[in-house]
Amino acid sequence: MWEKLQELKLKAEGAINACTDIDALNEQRVALLGKKGEMTAISRGMGALSAEERPKMGQAVNEVKQFIEELLAKKKDELAAAHLQQKLEEERVDVTLPGRPAAAGRRHILSVVQKDMEDIFIGMGYTVVDGPQVELDKYNFELLNLPKEHPARDMQDSFYFSESMLLRTHTSPVQARTMEAAEGKLPVKVISPGVVYRRDDDATHSPMFHQVEGLLIDEHVTLADLKGTLLAFAQQMFGADRQIRLRPSYFPFTEPSVEVDISCFNCGGCGCRLCKGTGWIEILGSGMVHPHVLEMSGYDPEKCTGFAFGMGVERIAMLKYGITDMRLLFDNDVRFLQQF
Ligand code: DAH
Repeated sequence: MWEKLQELKLKAEGAINACTDIDALNEQRVALLGKKGEMTAISRGMGALSAEERPKMGQAVNEVKQFIEELLAKKKDELAAAHLQQKLEEERVDVTLPGRPAAAGRRHILSVVQKDMEDIFIGMGYTVVDGPQVELDKYNFELLNLPKEHPARDMQDSFYFSESMLLRTHTSPVQARTMEAAEGKLPVKVISPGVVYRRDDDATHSPMFHQVEGLLIDEHVTLADLKGTLLAFAQQMFGADRQIRLRPSYFPFTEPSVEVDISCFNCGGCGCRLCKGTGWIEILGSGMVHPHVLEMSGYDPEKCTGFAFGMGVERIAMLKYGITDMRLLFDNDVRFLQQF
């Protein structure tokens, strides 16, 4: 029995040291010290011993048991430490590595240009107002001197919801809405930027685009005020050397009506491809508010006059930044958008 005990001690030492993980170690614990283990088998032989030998052997058994238990505990600690070390190696984080840069967004070039336009007019004392994109025929056409069946309605091909409701074809309806809300008070001095819609689609026309409308009504407003205002705008937008010229035109809601050109900022006026050799580039439509338009919205044309203008944001952006195809503005290709 004594020899068996010594053999077990040696065997246990070898087996425990050979364990490479906790599961194997637990198996050894059961095999060595479990109920059906080798130690239990040896202890059973105690019954056959004499009363003299029994306590000695009992002590020896206990010592070997304790020895094995200590070995198991030591190995368990070793394995746990090795496991932790391995995890630390595997999951190492290098906090000194540079971070991944977050891609910073930016405003769309049309938003930038629209904001620039707003800022210029705010600087001249204008208030920015908003209007609905789904508009009534009454505001989009009738109150602008375009009664039903008026041939000038053909200039703006429209998207209709019903006979009386459509997607607005221009920002001019905000003129009528603003005058109506002002209830005859003076002055009226607003700009209104926003989205408009027309049944158009090619390299220079999009079915959805943006305009900025302007309206000033007060006593003694003249065409000279209109010209001065638009000259100030053109010079702030396109450079201090810009000149403007007014060409007679026709809009039902203004009388007289003019189209406004700026001197070409590409060639300075000598003629180039951008201005098609003329030295001038058309940028907007405008005129003196038609007396009947004033009247229909509650203003007395004998007591006040006004001017109005409307310009395309896409057009201004394309001119200013040399963009040749309007569709680029709506493709949302970041390679294009990132240039601005
Ligand atoms: N609404 C016109 C258009 O979309 C532009 C315009 C012309 C606006 C003359 C005006 C104006 O306010 O006076 O074609």
